[in-house]
Amino acid sequence: MESKEVDFSFSSPTSLSKTRWWSRDTVAVVTGANRGIGFAVVKRFAELGLSVVLTARDVERGSKAAESLRELNGLRNVHFFPLDVSNPASIKTFVSWLETTFGGLDILVNNAAVSFNEIHENSVEYSETVIKTNFHGAKLLTESLLPLFRLSTSISRILNISSRLGSINKVRNLGIKATLQNERLSEEQIEDVINLFLEDVKNGTWQSQGWPEIWTDYSVSKLALNAYSRVLARRFEGSRLSINCFCPGFTQTSMTRGQGTHTPDAAADVAVRLALLPPDQLPNGRFFLGFGSYNKSRL
Ligand SMILES: NC(=O)c1ccc[n+]([C@@H]2O[C@H](COP(=O)([O-])OP(=O)(O)OC[C@H]3O[C@@H](n4cnc5c(N)ncnc54)[C@H](OP(=O)(O)O)[C@@H]3O)[C@@H](O)[C@H]2O)c1
Repeated sequence: MESKEVDFSFSSPTSLSKTRWWSRDTVAVVTGANRGIGFAVVKRFAELGLSVVLTARDVERGSKAAESLRELNGLRNVHFFPLDVSNPASIKTFVSWLETTFGGLDILVNNAAVSFNEIHENSVEYSETVIKTNFHGAKLLTESLLPLFRLSTSISRILNISSRLGSINKVRNLGIKATLQNERLSEEQIEDVINLFLEDVKNGTWQSQGWPEIWTDYSVSKLALNAYSRVLARRFEGSRLSINCFCPGFTQTSMTRGQGTHTPDAAADVAVRLALLPPDQLPNGRFFLGFGSYNKSRL
């Protein structure tokens, strides 16, 4: 992964409506959207007039969240369907419902994720769940939805909400780094890296093997998500599907126990601008990082 970053200036809020390419027929799906950044992303998409599917693993929390947007904010274009990204059966049911209800989709925001650590903790007790949710969940949902993307001239989009903690420069093991940086990286090699990490956790050797030092299991899950996004972007290069990642920065949500430099609404505003970039400005295979001054780099 190239770490060189280039400046990227966002258009102003008014120009967002000037470059409007979407309509009520544009369908966006957001995972893990009953709270936090996902919820704020759904709200922003709905305010801008897209049809949005708010998904959540818990039916009650999800339907309440969607109801609050419909009732309190008058956003009738918000729909709810349960989706637990760590459960393949739930993904299958969701994909089938989406196809029957909307016939396809235009935007997927893979936002759902877990971390079990307090800010300064680094336990790997729940590594399997973290990897299964943050990486394999996003991957399986993406693969299952690929045939349903409309691939219109406006270009379908996948925005993976990732983290700078999963940047390649956090990895100190040179062998793993070299594998992930290889231009011809394959999905199998990413799985090998994940398995190596889970083995190290099992063997109690994870601290000495050069994995990222902060929130190690979470960082490895995002490292894999970034790597997979790059492989997928290469697979769809030149087609009408764009795949990018975005790190929202330190945001005040449950994941950070309310700490952070900005609100979920502020993070969502940036995420939605990225997801709605005009077709001629939409890149593929980029990692968007930063809050305030924005820049992007190759994944
Ligand atoms: N907050 C930050 O500083 C920060 C920084 C960088 C990146 N991010 C990323 O931003 C995204 C959103 O996080 P957040 O800060 O908004 O955290 P959050 O408030 O904890 O929200 C996480 C969401 O994911 C859902 N979720 C967890 N497991 C799921 C599963 N198996 N299936 C479906 N949904 C599931 C949660 O549902 P429940 O309510 O049921 O638990 C919740 O709705 C994540 O990808 C995170 O890694 C956050």
